[in-house]
Amino acid sequence: MPSITFVAFDGARRTVTAPAGATAMEAAVRNAVPGIDADCGGACACATCHVYVDEAWRVAVGEPGDMEEDMLDFASDVRPTSRLSCQIKLTDALDGLVLHTPERQG
Ligand code: FES
Repeated sequence: MPSITFVAFDGARRTVTAPAGATAMEAAVRNAVPGIDADCGGACACATCHVYVDEAWRVAVGEPGDMEEDMLDFASDVRPTSRLSCQIKLTDALDGLVLHTPERQG
């Protein structure tokens, strides 16, 4: 089962596990990780599940799709490593993934 570490803007780290096939957003919400609102429930329609992929994981996670890219326009402080966590599907290859949560969503 992949484990994911969420690092808050203040450096606080939370490591959770989730089954392969779940999204990083679902892993965060199910474990009450602060900093992920996920208002639309994973439909790529709210941008409140914004995260920054740790540089070491950027290639493995991949780039956002077109729809996600459009939705990221609604997130604040978007960076080259920005992704919507509801669009990151967890696989065993992503075991150990590190995601950074922004100071605020929206
Ligand atoms: Fe709404 Fe990800 S949960 S875009």
